[in-house]
Amino acid sequence: MSEKIYLHSIPSTSDYLREHRDRYEDFSFVYTFDQTSGHGRLGRTWLSEPGANLMFSFLIKKKEILSYGPMCTLSAACSVARCIERLGIQGVSIKWPNDIYIGDKKAVGILLEGSLPDYMIIGIGINVNQRRFEGEYRIPPTSLANEAGKPIDLNAFRNEVFDAIERNFSAIPASFDADLEYFSHHDYLFGKRISVDDAGEYIASGVDKEFRLILSNESETRYNASGEIRILEDKHE
Ligand code: BTN
Repeated sequence: MSEKIYLHSIPSTSDYLREHRDRYEDFSFVYTFDQTSGHGRLGRTWLSEPGANLMFSFLIKKKEILSYGPMCTLSAACSVARCIERLGIQGVSIKWPNDIYIGDKKAVGILLEGSLPDYMIIGIGINVNQRRFEGEYRIPPTSLANEAGKPIDLNAFRNEVFDAIERNFSAIPASFDADLEYFSHHDYLFGKRISVDDAGEYIASGVDKEFRLILSNESETRYNASGEIRILEDKHE
């Protein structure tokens, strides 16, 4: 069993874990329901109403897992998405590589940081019980409570999520097959017309075994390990 550290209020669980990583063992979790200065990809802010949502980060030091790098995002996203579906919520999908959507709204953000090959920190923000979202959001947000139509037991859900992540990560790399299969049925981008880092126009065509996004157009097929995705228009029927 790994250590689970609850902090009542903290600027950022990921920053905290990075600063104190030498103190904590492999697979320690730090979590809070009140994160005051959360951050996301590309320096964006992660906003959360105090007490309503779950924010956590976990530390990976084991070399074997670190060697899979960004594939760990797939494990984390699938673990969380399955827990959301177990609440009876429909329309859950993963927007490659690391957001979880319900319908066309974002409920979960995942941020992978670290210094390979030494350590990796996976930070996850889940909108659980927040009902109203004020301020500027690039992608319309939602929460599990909004989608389920009732409040969610925050601690019970946190336990489920931590267990699911622990189970999935302890089975890496064997678990990747089931994760890729799950992803193929929950791929938000599949069939959509997109650009990556604002270059070109492609149809998102799933992922390969290394969780690289497959992009195709009339002249080429590309495999992208990273990049900022922009959706150009909705799915072709
Ligand atoms: C994104 O959507 O850009 C990723 C958001 C990641 C937010 C989580 S909340 C817990 C952890 N601490 C942070 O400061 N960020 C991550």
